[in-house]
Amino acid sequence: MTQDELKAAVADAAINEIEPGLEKGTVLGIGTGSTANLFIDRLGPLRDRFKGAVASSEASAKRLEALGIEVFELNNVGTVPYYIDGADEVNAHLHMIKGGGAALTREKIVAACAKRFICIADGSKSVATLGAFPLPVEVIPMARSYVARELVALGADPVYRQGVVTDNGNQIIDCYDFMIDDPVAMEARINAIVGVVTNGLFAARGADVLLLGRAEGVERITQ
Ligand code: A5P
Repeated sequence: MTQDELKAAVADAAINEIEPGLEKGTVLGIGTGSTANLFIDRLGPLRDRFKGAVASSEASAKRLEALGIEVFELNNVGTVPYYIDGADEVNAHLHMIKGGGAALTREKIVAACAKRFICIADGSKSVATLGAFPLPVEVIPMARSYVARELVALGADPVYRQGVVTDNGNQIIDCYDFMIDDPVAMEARINAIVGVVTNGLFAARGADVLLLGRAEGVERITQ
């Protein structure tokens, strides 16, 4: 199976996961990226079965609206029963690196408001130790150099993601050569650097369910 076919398989599995819980008043939390897009596409035909969605990016909001799914502001919704999103890497504890698409901060906010985080990923995203994928850090623009020096002190090789401005008007630094033995501690450590908005480690609040696409089928892993 191709990577795209594996992504499609986990998007299908996520629909099966949430469909029994859909009610007229349900507002879903929706992630960002190519795997999340496949999930959004499958939600279109179900739009009359639920109320709408909160999106973790402008791109996902546009895609949802194009399918006739109403998009709500998170402040007007409160909590969502499910947050469905992809990952750049995921480990056996369902800790993740996210933010390859620069949407990490809004993703983390919506995930924080979700009762269940369902991670959908093709098998290539499964790793023993997080960090081969460069860890994204969203920074306030004027703090970029300062934060980069602090990240060097932590052992990373920080690289400014040129030309990228987040939906929040900020910039992204990617941390290369930075294998992460303790994701919970490192998430908190990086977030404590002045000027960091958030980092792409989703460990303090990891996924509750991982739907992992493998050639032999979709594996369902829970905490
Ligand atoms: C967006 O900022 C990311 O967190 C994505 O969720 C992540 O990069 C996974 O993207 P793909 O589904 O495109 O691999």
